[in-house]
Amino acid sequence: MKSLFDQTRLAGMELKNRFIRSATYDGFADARGHMTAELFRVYEDLAKGGVGTIITGLTYVSDREEPIPRQMGIHDDSFIEEYKKLTEMSHKYGAKMILQIACLGSQTSAGANGKIMWGPSAVEDLGYKTAPKEMTQQDILFVQEAFANAALRAKQAGFDGVQLHAAHGYLLSKFLTPYYNRRNDAYGGNIENRARMVLETYQAIREKVGPEYPVLIKINCEDFMDQGMTFSDCKHVCNKLTELGVNAVEVSGGVSSSRPNEGTIRIIKAGQESYFRAYAAELAREIAVPVILVGGNREVAPLTEILNDTAIEYIALCRPLICESDLINRWQCGDLKPARCVSCNKCFRTGGTSCVFNRRNNFEEHP
Ligand SMILES: Cc1cc2nc3c(=O)[nH]c(=O)nc-3n(C[C@H](O)[C@H](O)[C@H](O)COP(=O)(O)O)c2cc1C
Repeated sequence: MKSLFDQTRLAGMELKNRFIRSATYDGFADARGHMTAELFRVYEDLAKGGVGTIITGLTYVSDREEPIPRQMGIHDDSFIEEYKKLTEMSHKYGAKMILQIACLGSQTSAGANGKIMWGPSAVEDLGYKTAPKEMTQQDILFVQEAFANAALRAKQAGFDGVQLHAAHGYLLSKFLTPYYNRRNDAYGGNIENRARMVLETYQAIREKVGPEYPVLIKINCEDFMDQGMTFSDCKHVCNKLTELGVNAVEVSGGVSSSRPNEGTIRIIKAGQESYFRAYAAELAREIAVPVILVGGNREVAPLTEILNDTAIEYIALCRPLICESDLINRWQCGDLKPARCVSCNKCFRTGGTSCVFNRRNNFEEHP
């Protein structure tokens, strides 16, 4: 029988339990994406709190695009030394650290601000109302190289692996979405072509970091919009990535223009927990690498059932750990009350992610 607290090995990493802090933009970096004391404290609280693996918030791989305010960066070598302190701290508490690497593309409220906003085609993001520049072949190579360099920096900084962000409507995800990808060249059209950007980016990373370094991917099961990426598209990409040696797949879903409450960060009513479970379970049956389930995971007993009834190997949490950074220790000590998070989504904001329950920044009172 599998337990949430099993020690496992994932691509050579020894993980102390099956819980993963899903990537979470914190809004605590400085204006150029560098570490601050506050950001360090967020990660120290998480590492102390018992989660086996921490995936950072999305970091920007190129400063040719405008980051989200106070987003973490990894766009040049100046980050390596400060991130070494972060990974050393986390390792001291026995938590592994994965750096999430991303390009925002047009899914951003930060606007272009004189910088480049890349997209597969010049199609306005339906949620953010921002229109990107259609990428040339040269842009594509530039971005792939930026991802690869970022991954190498992560390795040099002591991160245990990287996670390629190909979900949620950001740049790589947009290539997979027929509505946003209207290209007529080798990067658009059927799923073989739409997948090319993600696969080539993965390969560029793999070449830089070598065959042994853990490279994970976060991908949508579906976009939940008209002319969105389908689950069959998702399975195609994951099968190809598995052939190419990806080490784990985190199954998420949704973009800025998903149908109401079918997006990434859902309000959860009773019976709606673990909302990507059916997709992740089916994918886990099909692919030979570990599948990570994210989205609405809130309670030990049903999560243990998922582990044992399906081939899903890992459970990722975002909002519950914003609310209670020590949730995993609490559960491990036998206090099995569900996560305190009520999925009110008030934590999702730019300029300092915090929960109304723990009020790290005293932004708001709970209603
Ligand atoms: C405040 C906040 C920030 C997030 N930042 C990221 C991010 O940087 N990268 C990412 O892949 N997902 C991000 N997400 C999505 C989460 O990783 C996760 O997929 C989603 O919240 C569902 O999981 P949950 O029900 O455990 O919150 C964010 C979600 C929230 C609420």
